[in-house]
Amino acid sequence: MELMKQIWEMAQQDRKKIVLPEGDEERTLVASQKITEIGLAHVILVGNTAKIKEKAQKLGVNLEGVTIEDPETSGKLQGYINGFYELRKSKGMTLEKAEKIVRDPLYFGTMMVKMDDADGMVSGAIHTTGDLLRPGLQIIKTAPGVSVVSSFFIMMVPGSKYGEEGMLLFSDCAVNPNPTADQLAAIAIATADTARNLCKVEPRVAMLSFSTMGSADHELVEKVRKATEKAKELRPDLMIDGEMQLDAAIVEKVASQKAPNSNVAGKANVLIFPDLQAGNIGYKLVQRFANAEAIGPVCQGFAKPINDLSRGCSSDDIVSVVALTAVQAQTIKNS
Ligand code: ACO
Repeated sequence: MELMKQIWEMAQQDRKKIVLPEGDEERTLVASQKITEIGLAHVILVGNTAKIKEKAQKLGVNLEGVTIEDPETSGKLQGYINGFYELRKSKGMTLEKAEKIVRDPLYFGTMMVKMDDADGMVSGAIHTTGDLLRPGLQIIKTAPGVSVVSSFFIMMVPGSKYGEEGMLLFSDCAVNPNPTADQLAAIAIATADTARNLCKVEPRVAMLSFSTMGSADHELVEKVRKATEKAKELRPDLMIDGEMQLDAAIVEKVASQKAPNSNVAGKANVLIFPDLQAGNIGYKLVQRFANAEAIGPVCQGFAKPINDLSRGCSSDDIVSVVALTAVQAQTIKNS
């Protein structure tokens, strides 16, 4: 696939250090060898060194070039405990609690990113989205000028003419259960920037609803309307429009009837869903009924990249998400 090839090439040009805190997980070990051989990133596995080496040997995985960081023996542990305590003491964190929490590989890995010992983190093969996001939200926080962390999927719909020859970005399908109008505006802007920086396409952003340009009146529609206004006000350089129904967003004929004056309707390549129920159901509908490849969820808005995997992921999926994370880390370093 052209986009992933491009992302691999970008990752190879400036190798970033990516921490994988599920260090002794089988798919993670297989992916580590592949990532290292292809040169997509420097992999740091977090976990018990003996256990990781034993599992790797059983699987026939070569860990040459991969770093292992064992929280229990790491010289960095105490610094991370102190750092975490300082970050969270205003929220009631004690040194005693921090001692326990930071030994958890997800927190240890997140502290590695925070303290610049790694450029990004990928996890979720055996943890839930919430397990990964919570340390990220508590420790890494949002990038300057960004109010909310959200996520996007790159949807590749085979044989489709919609979006960018079948490629569209969907957001937010994984993080914010019920965003406010302001948060929805921030999600739209973040996804537009992702389309530009990562996918190298000019974003045309549709703010989705069950109403098109005032065809219905309801508080749910009003939220999307307000979010659209706010996003346009904040970023007049972007093509963002709404509120609009899905067909008006992607089908030119419908757009010409329902939203003839829109510069987005009929040709949207970025779809912003009004809440997490719509977004999560929406991406799964397209994935299953249209046989689309769904790359993600990829997080956006963190000060440094942290990304989630599906628990059903393959080792190749881990390779792809690590490559995406490495490219996000390059973008952040260069901005
Ligand atoms: N952006 C920025 N900061 C945030 C966000 C956000 N989206 N959400 C929470 N925070 C901050 C809070 O302000 C808080 O900061 P503080 O502790 O410094 O004051 C911190 O993060 C923790 O917030 P909590 O409210 O304690 O966290 P919460 O328990 O709400 O968890 C989470 C946040 C994990 C993102 C939650 O909203 C969640 O579970 N979302 C849904 C995840 C999910 O299940 N997705 C579907 C599955 S994925 C899939 O199918 C592909």
